[in-house]
Amino acid sequence: MIPLVKPYIAPTEEMMPRVEKILYSGYIAEGQAVYDFEREFGEYIGNPLVLALNSGTAALHIALTVLNVGAGDEVISTPMTAEPTNTTIALTGASIVWGDVDARTGLLNPVDVRRKVTARTKAIMLVHYAGMVCDMDAFNAISEETGIPIIEDSAHCLGGKYNGKMIGSNSRVTCFSFQAIKQMTTVDGGAISFTSEEDMDKARKLRWFGLDKKVSRLENDIKRAGFKYGMNNVNATIGSVQLAHIPEVIGTYISNGKYYDEALRNVDGVTLVPYYLHTEPSYWLYTMKVERRDDFIRMMEGQGIMAAPLHHRSDTHSVFAASRCELPQMEEWYRHFVHIPCGWWVGKEDRERIVEVIKRGW
Ligand SMILES: Cc1ncc(COP(=O)(O)O)c(C=O)c1O
Repeated sequence: MIPLVKPYIAPTEEMMPRVEKILYSGYIAEGQAVYDFEREFGEYIGNPLVLALNSGTAALHIALTVLNVGAGDEVISTPMTAEPTNTTIALTGASIVWGDVDARTGLLNPVDVRRKVTARTKAIMLVHYAGMVCDMDAFNAISEETGIPIIEDSAHCLGGKYNGKMIGSNSRVTCFSFQAIKQMTTVDGGAISFTSEEDMDKARKLRWFGLDKKVSRLENDIKRAGFKYGMNNVNATIGSVQLAHIPEVIGTYISNGKYYDEALRNVDGVTLVPYYLHTEPSYWLYTMKVERRDDFIRMMEGQGIMAAPLHHRSDTHSVFAASRCELPQMEEWYRHFVHIPCGWWVGKEDRERIVEVIKRGW
């Protein structure tokens, strides 16, 4: 079966000596390896204001905390995502206001978001779902008009671009995940990037109980309670080794994605997703809409190719019951969207066969 997701791990002869060295170095907690990884990751995304964390969930929780999101506030968010995007909002005590998606893309719809802005809106949470980039032109305009900051959840979109620049330096805060099945994994891990040093300094304290690493522990004074969300030297070392391969690895996702964009155009029963102006997807999961989805999935599985919708819409969870509302475009999207394999393990012959199989119909 060709899987939908598969962790890329750099060759053993590169990875194992580095991991062994750091494991027995006597310093496995947050240290130089973490700071080196942060610098390298910052170079990759084109923004030096980066902190490495132990998960993407930690990044989201810190992002919301840096923006002082709390009880009495509203955050406009999308139901089309993995759960942590929204459970972290719930943890702050803020209310989630669901924005509808664009039924063509499954991404948050700026027209609906603008309608739902109130005096209590504290942040807009964007998710570049499955590696597709949100309509940043429209969201930047809303943010400029209203002064409401954007958090970009880019857990799915490492290597995606807006205006020719990597995702990670456009909005006030961007969150990344290096969890097992993401385009880059550090086994588990995450990162957060900022456009201001001030936000980053706050976040740096929040990732370690609220302590200031620049001051000796005995002289420290915690003014705001923080978390234990930092990355350690072992995951950071894995990240550094991985990162050397990531441009090439993500290049394969992108090349396969572009191939499908061409080859699946005008195929009966398939509707392709349009990408927004000035955006470039990183194709973590190739995403499209199909008619009679259950039949499509069954047919693909019969051919040894995994196909699935993968994520459960967030708004139907009981924990978010108070936010429930009509989302007509989400209904339409959710009935039809599906992912097909697109990543580094999908070779040229595989992708040609996948297209052939789809063209035969279901
Ligand atoms: C959209 C999205 N946001 C956030 C996360 C959280 O990342 P992590 O699993 O690294 O905590 C994930 C992945 O699980 C995700 O898919």
